Amino acid sequence: MMDPMRGNNGPRYRHLAEDGAPYDTITIDKLTPIIGAEIGGVDLSNPLGNRTLDEIHRALAENSVIFFRDQHLTEEQHLDFGRKFGELHIHPAAPAAAGHPELMIIRADKDSPRANGEGWHSDVSCDVIPPMGSILYIRQCPPRGGDTLFASMYAAYEALSDRLKAYLEGLTAIHDGEENYRGTYAYAGVQDKATYPRAEHPVIRTHPVTGKKALYVNRGFTRRILGVPRDESSAVLAYLWNHAENPLFQCRFRWQENSIAFWDNRCVQHRAMWDYWPHTRSGHRVTVLGDRPV
Ligand code: SIN
Repeated sequence: MMDPMRGNNGPRYRHLAEDGAPYDTITIDKLTPIIGAEIGGVDLSNPLGNRTLDEIHRALAENSVIFFRDQHLTEEQHLDFGRKFGELHIHPAAPAAAGHPELMIIRADKDSPRANGEGWHSDVSCDVIPPMGSILYIRQCPPRGGDTLFASMYAAYEALSDRLKAYLEGLTAIHDGEENYRGTYAYAGVQDKATYPRAEHPVIRTHPVTGKKALYVNRGFTRRILGVPRDESSAVLAYLWNHAENPLFQCRFRWQENSIAFWDNRCVQHRAMWDYWPHTRSGHRVTVLGDRPV
């Protein structure tokens, strides 16, 4: 395991950075060797050919989160882009755009008591079938700040000791939306539901596309590891959350107006920085359904 006080851990993670075959229809500019890439050469408001779509899929699989700049999409086009990757998800609590329940509103301004996604999480991991991906389109940015941080849970898993990997294999944990969602959107006029989603998921999941293992516990939703005493669960979760938040596994995206981030919730956690009050940051998120974690 890593000593966070030493500055020479980089070479230990060299194997996490992979360079695949070249792309034909899009360009790739990696943010870090481990996670994140900016995609160029594509206008998402135009119909996308199969080749381009395949390459976007591949770029997501290889980089875990991908970014597009200077995109000009209508709400319908944003939704249509999401549908190319699967059925769309309706958020169990957050407000949505009028007439589009699948278009989640992401907005913080001078009157907001909170902003979305301020703690590390994987989107709606409390769902029995959690989202595979989220496509956030930010139209209005503050003059500075409002970055989003993304962390690779492949890298977090790989960096665990073999002993800890063996201990975690086969364990499951409860993910619960109650604490996160109850009362959270009252300020936006959203009434609470009687119940919020709750699910049991493996602590280590295997990605259905890449076949790689990823750590799948997050501060936002994971409440308890099953089959071990409560105090052991709390201590192990605290260790895993701290471990997962190591900057070595992260990239940080600096938004500009009309940028899009598309992240893979199966292998990525993210955290939004609300450091721009009293300025406004706003956009919409389209979330794509996934499959049951295994
Ligand atoms: C979220 O979807 O968790 C919000 C992310 C962001 O606003 O950057």
